[in-house]
Amino acid sequence: MISGLIMDIMGLHRFAFHSQVGYTWVILAFVHLVFNWGKVKAYWRHRFRLHPHQDLPTPPKQLQQLEHTQKSDRRSLFFSLLAMAGGFILGRLLPTGQTVDFSSQKTDGGMFYHQWSKLGYPQALRAILNWGEQPARYKTYGDARQIELPDPKGYQGLSLESAIATRRSQRDYLNAPLSLVDLSRLLHLACGITHAPGELRAAPSAGALYPLEVYPVVHRVEGLQSGIYHYAIQQHKLELLQPGDFRAAVVTAGLGQNFLGQASVCFVISGIFQRTRWKYHERTYRYVLMEAGHMGQNLYLGATSLGLGACAIGAFLDDALNHLLGLDGQKEAALYLITVGRVETG
Ligand SMILES: Cc1cc2nc3c(=O)[nH]c(=O)nc-3n(C[C@H](O)[C@H](O)[C@H](O)COP(=O)(O)O)c2cc1C
Repeated sequence: MISGLIMDIMGLHRFAFHSQVGYTWVILAFVHLVFNWGKVKAYWRHRFRLHPHQDLPTPPKQLQQLEHTQKSDRRSLFFSLLAMAGGFILGRLLPTGQTVDFSSQKTDGGMFYHQWSKLGYPQALRAILNWGEQPARYKTYGDARQIELPDPKGYQGLSLESAIATRRSQRDYLNAPLSLVDLSRLLHLACGITHAPGELRAAPSAGALYPLEVYPVVHRVEGLQSGIYHYAIQQHKLELLQPGDFRAAVVTAGLGQNFLGQASVCFVISGIFQRTRWKYHERTYRYVLMEAGHMGQNLYLGATSLGLGACAIGAFLDDALNHLLGLDGQKEAALYLITVGRVETG
């Protein structure tokens, strides 16, 4: 009964595979019962016969023991039946919440996930599952070439109000490089450490667990070799993962959207899910995507404030982009892309 309730609360029966496994077990149990029916009958006849040895003189001690066993057998049977009935009635009575009908054309995995990850008191039971250990807070590529970035602070850009008012998704970039200091500022505004105690960052993060990483794919930045970099947040440094011209590769991964190759930098935001998952369990995917949105907006407004153009890209080939960055796509996956480049001002 308890395992049934836990399965119900976790919504496992909504997966066709789990239901099929359940039915398979019921069928197997039934077949087993049919093939052993003779033995089962003999066993119960033997167990529930009140006076099995009426004709034989039974020693009083053995008789007492036999009666005791028979009583406890009847009690176990009674409680098993009671538990089955209880489980059945509870299953019928308990509100099941909003379920997702997978047979309907109007539903998808996202809808199921949204329903499944809703917070509620019964869901607290899921916390008993083992959601794994907390991984390291920072990712660094120890063997990669480290590139110092200029101090990102102390510039006067557009006011926040003007940046919000004038921000547009810009896809027509000039063939002019970004300065290294602007790249440094953009990274700092996206996710740099802004509050030393607790190492809190520019973008908010659920539980200050910071699941996101940033990989600038550099096409045109003054004084910086083209290639794929990783932003080492704690040191405010770049780590060169692969030098080279990745314009064509990024355009291919971005479903042929040519402006990905014309921008100065494509910022790929990825998520390391376990950083949030060990604490926030099934809410993780929601939080990680929300945080990618925060970081994306920081980049948009930062770029606008610096007089640059930015554009978000959600349409990309996940496997191709993950492969390009050397991510497994499971523990860590690319989530969002933001292009930044010089644009006509006026
Ligand atoms: C989650 C998300 C995904 C997007 N994906 C793309 C994309 O793949 N390609 C593109 O050209 N623009 C993309 N955009 C930009 C939108 O087209 C743009 O924000 C929208 O047209 C509104 O224009 P505005 O940003 O100038 O206000 C995306 C925006 C968001 C928020």
